[in-house]
Amino acid sequence: MANIFPRWSNLLPLKIVVCAGTVAGGIALAFSYYATPKTLAVGYQPSQPIPFSHKIHVDQLGLDCRYCHSFVEVSGHSNVPTGNTCWNCHQHVQQDSPKLEPLHISMNPNHPSYDGEPIEWVRIHKLPDYVYFNHSAHVSRGISCQSCHGDVDQMEVVYQAENLSMGWCLECHRSPEDNLRPLEEVFNFAYDAEDWLTENPMEGVDTTEELGLKLKEQFKVTPKESCATCHH
Ligand code: HEC
Ligand code: HEC
Ligand code: HEC
Ligand code: HEC
Ligand code: HEC
Repeated sequence: MANIFPRWSNLLPLKIVVCAGTVAGGIALAFSYYATPKTLAVGYQPSQPIPFSHKIHVDQLGLDCRYCHSFVEVSGHSNVPTGNTCWNCHQHVQQDSPKLEPLHISMNPNHPSYDGEPIEWVRIHKLPDYVYFNHSAHVSRGISCQSCHGDVDQMEVVYQAENLSMGWCLECHRSPEDNLRPLEEVFNFAYDAEDWLTENPMEGVDTTEELGLKLKEQFKVTPKESCATCHH
């Protein structure tokens, strides 16, 4: 078994449970589902070096998530932008705002305290190291940021909206239809399934539930539940 779990050498109990799980998946699943804590820091909202507001930049200015989180569609990890992305605008806009002082220290050689060091954003969403997660596998299959991160477009300060527990992951893997969207709507935080259906009538689809099931069938969306999907 050792080779299958190279990064896990320090996680022996977990390793044993998962080995057992491969044999007796159902039992292990039932066990770990209920053993899993139901809350992993829901509401966690650390203060950041710059009081960056998603509400201003997304809702008011209309920026797309991908303008800043540019890797989210192509990579497992969704990057947080570097100071360059902010500087594109803020070398011209709100130059004298005291809130942007740390950006000037990082980016503006004319600032007396300029040090060129990157801005150290505090990480909010964080799974344990033994869990494998992948952003592009979700957003390229019709799952919106909104399903997992809540109404970020309205947040003055980002907080963790969901508990990110194993039970939470599995609930959607069992019935993704409740969260599936047409691909072009994944980044649209104003999406409304009912309105979409009115504008894009589909044969044999009358309710939003039927729309979810139809999308699931059409794109053959079949999230896996085996332990190795998320623990490898
Ligand atoms: C103008 C740039 C910008 C845009 C546009 C933007 N973000 Fe962000 N986002 C940031 C920055 C900077 C941070 C880190 C600071 C913070 O948490 O507020 C961040 C943090 C986050 C986090 C928390 C990351 C963590 O540490 O766990 C999530 C989730 C997130 N953004 C989602 C979104 C979504 C969804 C959209 C589109 C609706 C979006 N962002 C649009 C710049 C942006
Ligand atoms: C596309 C241009 C653009 C980008 C990119 C951008 N901003 Fe802004 N930002 C603005 C504009 C415009 C405002 C002013 C909005 C208003 O006053 O309603 C603003 C306002 C702000 C404010 C409030 C300033 C104050 O004193 O009220 C902060 C803080 C801020 N931005 C931080 C950031 C950070 C950090 C980034 C990079 C992660 C960033 N912005 C990226 C355009 C941008
Ligand atoms: C299926 C649920 C899900 C979806 C959909 C999703 N995220 Fe995440 N996001 C997570 C989880 C879980 C983490 C923590 C990942 C980790 O610790 O490895 C995370 C972390 C992040 C982070 C912190 C950096 C990172 O990669 O760990 C950012 C930024 C972020 N998400 C932005 C977004 C944006 C923008 C979208 C939509 C384009 C999005 N997410 C869609 C669940 C999701
Ligand atoms: C809102 C629904 C939803 C949530 C929540 C969710 N997933 Fe998924 N997940 C999906 C869908 C849909 C797919 C794509 C299935 C497909 O391509 O057929 C997927 C695919 C994946 C894949 C890719 C598997 C592969 O075939 O390569 C991994 C890994 C994964 N999810 C891990 C997680 C983890 C870990 C969590 C919890 C932190 C999570 N997911 C939460 C819906 C979800
Ligand atoms: C869709 C993704 C996913 C699948 C599939 C999955 N897990 Fe997990 N698992 C997670 C996440 C996320 C965590 C960390 C969060 C938590 O502790 O709830 C976790 C945590 C665990 C833990 C630690 C629990 C604790 O309380 O510390 C064990 C043990 C575990 N998983 C075993 C399994 C076994 C056995 C299977 C197969 C029957 C399995 N997992 C399938 C996502 C998954």
